[in-house]
Amino acid sequence: MGVAVYPGSFDPVTNGHLDIIDRASKVFDHLIVAVLENPRKNAIFSMDERVEMLNSIVGQYKNVEVDCFRGLLVNYVQKRNASIIIKGLRAMSDFEFEFQMALVNRKLSENVETLFMMTNNMYSYVSSSIVKEIAGYGGDIRALVPSQVYQRIKDKFAAHFKNV
Ligand code: PNS
Repeated sequence: MGVAVYPGSFDPVTNGHLDIIDRASKVFDHLIVAVLENPRKNAIFSMDERVEMLNSIVGQYKNVEVDCFRGLLVNYVQKRNASIIIKGLRAMSDFEFEFQMALVNRKLSENVETLFMMTNNMYSYVSSSIVKEIAGYGGDIRALVPSQVYQRIKDKFAAHFKNV
């Protein structure tokens, strides 16, 4: 079903993201996981770290690639010859903002369609912010992130919080 772009900050990637990647990889011929370089967001992980963590978990999927982008998402989607944006929806609280973004993106480009995937209910409470909150207090995040990236996140937080 064509080429889809799954955009996000992925700071860091969680099991909720991985669930969407897994399911979207079965629906689309090619899936591009696109990490936003957002100067307005204070990311804990650098762009390279976020891309590396994603690459370590998508290796098993032949039709998934990881890339990064700046600027407007619709411009990136068109540059990659894709026409679909895939987004995960966790709860009604996500809906309002996602609805607005989908409408804005359609206004910016009629050729790009946004499709939503309901999250697996096992992960509906998981977000990058929650992972950072728990890891910041030294809590156990093993159930929330892919095993391949767990140690990297732990190391990062140990170093980060030593310096603050
Ligand atoms: O993981 P996030 O931070 O919720 O992802 C947000 C993202 C990257 C999907 C969104 O911020 C985005 O698309 N940014 C690119 C700028 C853009 O196109 N803005 C117009 C749509 S509101």
